[in-house]
Amino acid sequence: SKNIYTLAIESSCDDTSAAVLLNDKVLSNVVARQEIHEQYGGVVPELASRAHQQNIVPVVDVALKKAGITKNDLSCIAFTQGPGLMGSLLVGGSFAKSLSMALDIPLIAVNHMKGHILAHFIDEEGYSKPTFPFLAMTISGGHTQIIQVDSFFEMKIIGETTDDAVGEAFDKSAKILGLPYPGGPLIDKYAKDGNPKAFPFTKPKVDGLNFSFSGLKTQILYFIQKQTQTNPNFIEENLADICASIQHTIINILMDKLKLAVKETGIKQIAIGGGVSANSGIRNTLKEAEKKYGWQTYIPKFEYTTDNAAMIGIVGYHSLLENKTSNTDVVSKARIEF
Ligand code: KG4
Ligand code: ZN
Repeated sequence: SKNIYTLAIESSCDDTSAAVLLNDKVLSNVVARQEIHEQYGGVVPELASRAHQQNIVPVVDVALKKAGITKNDLSCIAFTQGPGLMGSLLVGGSFAKSLSMALDIPLIAVNHMKGHILAHFIDEEGYSKPTFPFLAMTISGGHTQIIQVDSFFEMKIIGETTDDAVGEAFDKSAKILGLPYPGGPLIDKYAKDGNPKAFPFTKPKVDGLNFSFSGLKTQILYFIQKQTQTNPNFIEENLADICASIQHTIINILMDKLKLAVKETGIKQIAIGGGVSANSGIRNTLKEAEKKYGWQTYIPKFEYTTDNAAMIGIVGYHSLLENKTSNTDVVSKARIEF
């Protein structure tokens, strides 16, 4: 069969990424992180789109060089259409359109969330691919969803957050504790030495498969305010226990919904994605669930869980195989239907 070279571009938030795939194998996956946002404690949209403008050409150049090909070898160009920050999406989208027109090769608009889900289908040694149907749980700084995936192009959201994303729950909790942004990885780190049951936070009551995290954040804020009134050193003295307790509560919220989703669908294959799937507590809990509940769980290689272009490329590749290409009048969308 034919060799398909896909160039993929991801610019939905604060990372500029370009990847080259040969069929379902990744030849290069380059990510330029934007450190500029750290000092603001969150992503500043204006600065993000400006940095994408600076980064996009060099990042694509490096991706092509690392893959050992030139732009003339490309079969198609895939890019993130949405969801994301409009100013960021437009940079990647305009670039992809122009290059596809210049090279006269197919353009493929990709839903970022589908990228997180289909990242599991990148051919990678040591990683097995889920079989259809499976449940995907996408947990990141922007999203928290449970999706029933019936095929490459038939999937439906069966649960999602009604307020904050789980990554925001981690980052906002970390902020309350005075930790730098993004605080998720730091909570994970400190939690390793703490007692997860030291401070019992309550889980929100949310119907069905939907999530809510804003109540937990408020609960943590009031708890910390109250404790530091009587003991100004409360955070420093209890950091590991506080982090372990927060992480434990968040994992319980996720696991309750996953268990319910398995019960309702009868599907026991669970694939997770998004930056929060790096969390060691979540990884351990899922491994335990394999034994405890007979689930099969899938966690992609780390570089394919956080925002990256390779995951956009694998969607592009499968789209091209099914002739699902886009016209050049396709537009970027901050919010997008699945
Ligand atoms: O997928 P991602 O890189 O970007 C988004 O699309 O949001 O996810 C970033 C999020 C941040 O909220 C970050 O704090 C969180 O993932 N995160 C973690 C860990 N590593 C990254 N949260 C908890 N534990 C971790 N180890
Ligand atoms: Zn993402």
